[in-house]
Amino acid sequence: MTDLNIGLIGYKFMGKVHSYAIKMAPFFFDIKINPVQKVICGRTEHLVKQAAESFGWDEYMTDWREVIKRDDIDIISIASPTLVHRDIAVEAAKAGKHIFCEKPQAMNASEAKEMLEVAEDAGIVHMLGHNYRRVPALAQAKKMIDEGKLGEIYHFRAVYLQDWIMDPEFPAIWKLKKDIAGSGPHGDLNAHIIDLARFLVGDISTVVGMDKTFIKERPKPGTGEKLKTMLTADGQNSEHLEEVDVEDMMAFLARFKDGAVGTFEATRFAGGRKNHERIEINGSKGTLVFNFEKMNELYYWSNQEDLETQGFKKILVTEECHPYIEAYWPPGHLIGYQNTFVNEFADFFKYIDEGTKAEPNFYDGWKVNQVLDAVMKSTESKSWENVESF
Ligand SMILES: NC(=O)c1ccc[n+]([C@@H]2O[C@H](COP(=O)([O-])OP(=O)(O)OC[C@H]3O[C@@H](n4cnc5c(N)ncnc54)[C@H](O)[C@@H]3O)[C@@H](O)[C@H]2O)c1
Repeated sequence: MTDLNIGLIGYKFMGKVHSYAIKMAPFFFDIKINPVQKVICGRTEHLVKQAAESFGWDEYMTDWREVIKRDDIDIISIASPTLVHRDIAVEAAKAGKHIFCEKPQAMNASEAKEMLEVAEDAGIVHMLGHNYRRVPALAQAKKMIDEGKLGEIYHFRAVYLQDWIMDPEFPAIWKLKKDIAGSGPHGDLNAHIIDLARFLVGDISTVVGMDKTFIKERPKPGTGEKLKTMLTADGQNSEHLEEVDVEDMMAFLARFKDGAVGTFEATRFAGGRKNHERIEINGSKGTLVFNFEKMNELYYWSNQEDLETQGFKKILVTEECHPYIEAYWPPGHLIGYQNTFVNEFADFFKYIDEGTKAEPNFYDGWKVNQVLDAVMKSTESKSWENVESF
């Protein structure tokens, strides 16, 4: 079995998730290569050192360029903010490393296209972190749609709802900054449901969107508590506030190339909703409904059954015949969020071993970035935009 050494850039939310998935993929799946947790990288030495110890990495470094320069690194896993995805991926591809990159792929479609072209020229395996394709219920939905169980697709309807920044005291972290994140919940959450729309239904041709920023100024990171005191003492003190230049919500309508229509909504202001990713697809023969908060379930209605007994049925996607499930537990023993990443890294390692193209890859990421850009443009032009113009 060949050892493949991994360099992971980023050690917080996705850094921890990637570490877990890299460790657990060979535990659950029959993988023909041996992924080695060689180096984890982040800018703050004492924190990345701590992460290396907690997550089981052999070494840590503080400059991603130095990680890429190393001859003993075969794979780069990118779990850093969107702003640095392009630079890391381009350098890594030129150095011949295989790449796993978090979503959204890039700040915009032109950066994403550059990543695709450089990665293709380098002949490396490139994969994008749209983990929801690896939820067994959604992989099962894809299978059912491909088998024609829904007939002609009419509607794709998706919402991705969260509520973690509703408090106006929540600080302006990088995910609320246009120059680092590219956008707010649009690039963060709509990116996932756009990818699922492409995965399940097909390419989108035209879009029109609407956005809103509810809280226009927030405390600078690290000033929240101080700010409360300042506000009580002096009223508004803009020194500790900074402008929020990304949207708090983005909704859009879409027309698919094959004739279906879609609605999409992403927000961080849906009180009580934590990670509520819900999808409904209606076709001429049936409907499928998925909600991530019940990720082991898929709801299916079919008009091919007798009218007398028609109705939504719940498929508990935990049988051996369901995608990815054979690797886990006996029927009914549920899997969770972290398993979607184990599944995607297991596939990534399989693609590398077999030398095949990954799914989704930088082409898919570029297509998602095109939709993101077109929607953002449409909020300015106040008109429908063609996705392929971006
Ligand atoms: N697949 C998913 O469901 C999912 C969920 C959350 C985030 N993400 C994506 O993962 C990426 C990271 O998000 P996160 O939530 O883990 O963010 P985070 O803030 O939790 O972590 C970001 C990490 O990047 C590091 N970092 C920042 N700038 C860097 C630089 N210039 N060089 C090296 N390291 C740098 C930080 O130190 C930190 O370790 C983003 O692209 C985000 O969209 C994906």
